[in-house]
Amino acid sequence: MFITFEGLDYSGKSTQVQLLADRLTLQDHRVLILREPGGTDIGEKIRKLLLDKNNDGMTEASELFLFSASRSQLIQEVVRPALDGGMVVICDRYYDSTTAYQGYGRGIPLDVIHAINRYATGSLAPDVTFFLDIPIREIEKRMHSAKTNKDRMESNGIEFYERVRNGFLQLAKTESRYCIIDGLQPIDDLHDIIWHHLTEILVPQK
Ligand SMILES: Nc1ncnc2c1ncn2[C@@H]1O[C@H](COP(=O)(O)OP(=O)(O)OP(=O)(O)O)[C@@H](O)[C@H]1O
Ligand SMILES: [Mg+2]
Repeated sequence: MFITFEGLDYSGKSTQVQLLADRLTLQDHRVLILREPGGTDIGEKIRKLLLDKNNDGMTEASELFLFSASRSQLIQEVVRPALDGGMVVICDRYYDSTTAYQGYGRGIPLDVIHAINRYATGSLAPDVTFFLDIPIREIEKRMHSAKTNKDRMESNGIEFYERVRNGFLQLAKTESRYCIIDGLQPIDDLHDIIWHHLTEILVPQK
């Protein structure tokens, strides 16, 4: 099974990915957690390029191709073999992030984005996608309490994030694999909602 988590920065994806992986492991599933961009040798190098604040001259097209290049490596080297081997693969962001950030956020035509997404992944779609929805003001709040410096992707304005959030919501409307969750709820409640949703579609391990 291929599970993806999507959402704005600081929406709680990595927190929920870890909780879900731990619980699945307790139930004897073999679980693989991956993060985008990255997850392969080439992909981790690309990740550094994408997040480096010194790369402020990066074109929108370069950004799109770099994310997609990292993803192509990840699918071919890691995800397909793991799925073929019966593992549960949980991906912290996937091609919906490209549609939302580079498409809706930066304004690259969606037909271009969809074609590249399909090509980079061999059209491998997730079985289920959890979208953790938070309002934009919550990003600032969480960023301050986490006391981290903004990386290149996080240094975008409020309007950008509004467009990205709207992009995810549009995707959720058209893709039946989507499960939209109000990300303002407490961490444990979110986990319970995610777990409940999954138990309805997951095949138990012997
Ligand atoms: N449900 C929640 N309520 C309040 N705070 C939360 C919640 N979930 C996570 N957080 C906090 O928000 C911050 C971001 O969480 P996390 O790293 O899981 O988000 P993320 O979506 O993976 O972010 P990024 O896109 O930057 O990787 C952390 O400090 C985390 O403790
Ligand atoms: Mg994260």
